[in-house]
Order: sequence, then structure tokens, then C-alpha cells
Amino acid sequence: MIPTIEWHGKHIRMIDQRKIPSKIEWFICRGYKDVIRGIQRMVIRGAPAIGVAAAMGLAMGASSIRANSYAVFRKKLKKIAGEMLLARPTAVNLRWAVERMTGLVETMAARPVDDIKSALRKESEKILEEDIEINRQMGNNGQSLVPDGATILTHCNAGSLATGGYGTALGVIRAARENSKKIKVIADETRPWLQGLRLTAFELMEEGIPVSVIADNAAGSLMRQKRIDLVITGADRIAANGDVANKIGTYQVAVLARTNKIPFYVAAPLSTIDPTVKNGDLIPVEERDPEEIRRFGRLEIVPARVHVLNPAFDITPARYVTAIITEKGVITPPYRQGIKNLFTSARL
Ligand code: MRU
Repeated sequence: MIPTIEWHGKHIRMIDQRKIPSKIEWFICRGYKDVIRGIQRMVIRGAPAIGVAAAMGLAMGASSIRANSYAVFRKKLKKIAGEMLLARPTAVNLRWAVERMTGLVETMAARPVDDIKSALRKESEKILEEDIEINRQMGNNGQSLVPDGATILTHCNAGSLATGGYGTALGVIRAARENSKKIKVIADETRPWLQGLRLTAFELMEEGIPVSVIADNAAGSLMRQKRIDLVITGADRIAANGDVANKIGTYQVAVLARTNKIPFYVAAPLSTIDPTVKNGDLIPVEERDPEEIRRFGRLEIVPARVHVLNPAFDITPARYVTAIITEKGVITPPYRQGIKNLFTSARL
């Protein structure tokens, strides 16, 4: 499994996901603004990976702050945190990570600035390690939902590359495989960034898990032909009522799954659940540059004066979600209570 992101001395390096599978190349971040650019330009993407990147970027930004007093340091760090929060709007893991890092600073008012800087770096390392462990737990919790011999449809990339490692939806798939289940995966291509076709296919191929890629518009037909047994996706944000924001196209997959009586599972860590947002309509959906649709590589594929819409995510109402798989257990409807329980109980 190639690492998604790591510290490299004082710098941070992330695998440039825009180039996979043609090239495996590091994108080096020498300052926190490089991390913000990396997130905005899709060098690193996927909700948990964005959270990890934000934490590391904040630690890197903190290390460059010149301040002799806690008050000045805190003020400057808050400014960096504010910039980081604006990098991408939908994945709540970014806000979660920034709040965890700034929360740590609030507990260290009596400590020298250098101590706070090294504590922030350690915290970012911990967030990365924890993320991998959480994904393994999620995989373990979710794999029992995968029957032996199943063909699983997934959308976008919710794999190792979208997280600190191991993956959420692909984590469940990996765990099923580790439990000797013979499974096959079908990956939606996932226009316009092709995360399914490029990243999910790459990850699964590398591990010898059988994978086929389909055009996004083929999923319904395959379901109707009973060639898909279940769907597992990740999430960018889950509202308090269980509505799920995920990569554009997820909603239509969920509706098709329901129509075809196929279970639709969402695998996501608690850091993706946002209990402050009552329902999916209140989740901010990122609208990206129309150029991402207008061009295919260098080729212009949309007539020049035609307007393009490019919402990057959609909302799947909770009623289409068969279960949500988390590191603390699997919850089923009604989600409002289930989600409350996740945040109060140690383990379901
Ligand atoms: O635009 P992206 O590639 O950041 O979108 C990613 C997704 O929608 C993933 O499904 C989601 O972040 C879950 S990743 C574990």
C-alpha cells in the first residue's frame, strides 16, 4: 500500500493523486500554503485524508510562527487555521482535525511556544496513526455484512489513498478479503476526476482483489441484471439524521440500489459525522471549476459557449442507507438515535 501522506523531515509529502496510475510522484509541501493548495487541487483528496493533511499542515504552519508569547502564537495559529478551514467545504474531517489541533493549543497556555509546536507535530502524527487503526476497526465491523462470493459496487475512492491508510469502504472490502471471502469489486469510473477508474482500480489491482471498472451510467443496468450484490461507499459528511454527503453520483447509485433491493452501506469514521448539522440539506456542497468537466485532459469536449455545472458532492437521504459502518460499530435506521449513541457509548 503506498502511503497517502507523511512527514519528510520538516516537510510534508503527499502522493500526487492527480497522476495515478500514470505516475507515482510525491508532491512536496514546504509550507502550510502548499498543503492548502494540495487539498484544493486534488493532490490529496478523500475526507479522512484531507483531515490528516489539515492537521499536518497546521503543525507545519505552527512551526514557522515567530512568537515569544502564547497570546501572539495563538493569534497567528488561529489565522492559519482559518485559512485551512476554507480549503474545501464539504468533508467535515477537515474542520474536525483543525478543531482537534487548535483545541490542543488551548490546553497549553502555560507552556513555552516551542513545546506547543512539537506537541502539534506529535498530534498530527497521532491523527495519522489513529486514522489507520480506525479504518481497520471499521473494516472489521463491516466485513460481516459482505457475503462470501459477493460482487460489490463502490463509487469514487474510499480507499487507502482517501485516508491515512487502509480505507473506509475499501477497508471493509480489504477486511472481507482478509477473512478469506472471495469477493469481486465493480468500481464506478466517477466523473469528472475518475477516482474510481484511476485510484480504486489501482489500489485493488495492486492487492490482487478482482476489480472491474464501469462507466458511471452502467451501474443501474448491472443491478437490474443481478450482477451486483451490495454497494459500499464512503462519506464526506453525515448529518445528525443520517443523510450522507458523498461524491457526486452516490445519490443515484443509492436510489438504484433501493429500486433493485440491493443493500447500500456507507463506511465512515466518527470524524465524518457532523451532529451539528441536522440534515443533509444543510451540508455545504462544493461547486468546482467548470473546466474540470469542460476538458478531458487537454481536449475541450463541451461546446465553448455552453454552461457547465460541476457540483462535487450530493446528498443521499438516510432512508436509502441500509447501514452506516463506523469504528464503533454498525448502525441501522433510525439514525438520529444511533448517531447519538455512537458519540456517547464506548462500543455498540
Ligand atoms: O472529491 P474527493 O475525491 O475528495 O471525494 C471523495 C469522496 O467523495 C469519498 O467517497 C469520501 O471522501 C470518502 S473517502 C474515505
